[in-house]
Amino acid sequence: MTRYLITSALPYINGVKHLGNLAGSMLPADVHARFRRAQGHETLAICATDEHGTPAELAALEAGQDVATYCAEQHAIQKGLGDRFALDWDYFGRSSSPQNRELTQDFARALWRNGHLEVRATKQAFSATDRRFLPDRYVIGTCPHCGYDRARGDQCENCTRVLDPVDLISPRSALSGAADIEIRDSAHLFLKQSEFVPQLRAWIESHAGDWSGLVYSIARKWLEEGLQDRGITRDLEWGVPVPDDIGDGQLKGKVFYVWFDAPIEYIGATKEWADARGIADWRSWWYAAKDVCYLEFMAKDNVPFHTVGFPVTIMGLRPQHDWKLVDRIKGFNWLTYYGGKFSTSQRRGVFMAAALEILPADYWRYYRIANAPEGADTSFTWEHFAAVVNKDLADVLGNFANRVTKFCVARFDGLVPGEGAYEAEERALIAELDQRIAQYTRHMEDIELRKAMGELRAIFVAGNEYLTRAAPWTHIKTDRARAAAGVRMGLNLVHLFGHLAWPVIPASARVIHEAIMPAPEIIPWPDEAMAEFLDDLDPGQPIRAPDVLFAKIADEQIAEWKARFGGAED
Ligand code: 2FM
Ligand code: ZN
Repeated sequence: MTRYLITSALPYINGVKHLGNLAGSMLPADVHARFRRAQGHETLAICATDEHGTPAELAALEAGQDVATYCAEQHAIQKGLGDRFALDWDYFGRSSSPQNRELTQDFARALWRNGHLEVRATKQAFSATDRRFLPDRYVIGTCPHCGYDRARGDQCENCTRVLDPVDLISPRSALSGAADIEIRDSAHLFLKQSEFVPQLRAWIESHAGDWSGLVYSIARKWLEEGLQDRGITRDLEWGVPVPDDIGDGQLKGKVFYVWFDAPIEYIGATKEWADARGIADWRSWWYAAKDVCYLEFMAKDNVPFHTVGFPVTIMGLRPQHDWKLVDRIKGFNWLTYYGGKFSTSQRRGVFMAAALEILPADYWRYYRIANAPEGADTSFTWEHFAAVVNKDLADVLGNFANRVTKFCVARFDGLVPGEGAYEAEERALIAELDQRIAQYTRHMEDIELRKAMGELRAIFVAGNEYLTRAAPWTHIKTDRARAAAGVRMGLNLVHLFGHLAWPVIPASARVIHEAIMPAPEIIPWPDEAMAEFLDDLDPGQPIRAPDVLFAKIADEQIAEWKARFGGAED
């Protein structure tokens, strides 16, 4: 049986994470990991905070903390938020861990030995005012490609192109704002990516059929634009130090570039997991791992680093080392807030902690997966959010579970009724659900989240419509056996819905399942035919009617939240 290794792009340590960060990698990764676990696959789900580089240093400076303290605090905050959103990582590590430092240094040594690294004299931005080099985000200026005037030295967030600080037009220091930036020489280590073009092209082409159009086209665009050798060191203090045995003494005091060590932390965090749990064999997930299917989840701006940067690192370690290349990349477009950017500074948009202050995690989880930004950028609006929650969760799923269980408590003493046989109505429902669940399973396997949620919703609707037709509350007056069969089917459906919904809304799915019977920690994917699954409950078995599962969102709440979080830009 295949084992599934699942990673989510590592959230930067700095900045409060918003719904877009959740929707674009961490949440879909969690849903897929839960789905694979539910199917009975051995699964390892890994994430971590991305702690090096200029974003971390700049944020620590702003917070008035030393970088290490800042990162430790922020890591705990992000870990806590992930837990509250039920992101069930096997491990949520830190790219600043000793494990990652060791792996990063070892990888660099191996690349050096294989002749893939080279020391080159480079021109770096140096600020006389700040008396230091200003790598990456320490410089702000105008993007030479698209003209965006607040492009950062590492990447233009407008056109997503990767930049070098010296490319920027009208550069200024992010520290002091000073424009007295001079260009000085500094030796740096380069990864000779250009030598990997044929290999990389063959590898990317081999995935033409199984990567989404978004991911494949970004990867291709990079190849076609011509692969440049990549500087993988920086003049910074915070980061993984370049070991002395690389670079013939020319790289003293330098650290690796954050985008060199961050993806290695996928492996590093696996080692952190193993060390924390006393697991000896962690390498089999990554090394010569033929039985492992490795899936990466990320937003589109991260795709180049995962289709080019990290794969070149892995390829450069061969043939001596056989670390795993990704099998499947699931990329996402942006989630916008009323068509605009989420912005901490302008207080626009819903941030993870605030989201949980107003509603439980499952509301957000369901909505974000059902409207995942798969095909195009997707806008969050309170109106749409409320409409989806009210309809799919409150009216369809919640109401169904409440209706059946309450009726069973009122008219059958809260015991699964044994009278009455399934008839044509039930057989038709069973046939429909067999098909729909097969379809739902396929969409989950393909990580087509919107389609999967469309099918899940259709399954809930089919149950509701069945119950309306079966109308046990009408039959109870004249034909108790018929009413009993309807209630028995209804309770079996509630049980089924608990199974099917668990990867997406784990807490609610548990409550739904436990209305019928205790649930295991991992609620398994139903793999038997529906004729068996929906006839599974023992007559006489007690059930409970849960409280209202999903509260409807009222118009006043929408108004209140728009006032609090910002609404349409006018
Ligand atoms: O874009 C980001 O948020 C990065 N911190 C993602 C890093 S993914 C990985 F390679 F570590
Ligand atoms: Zn640009």
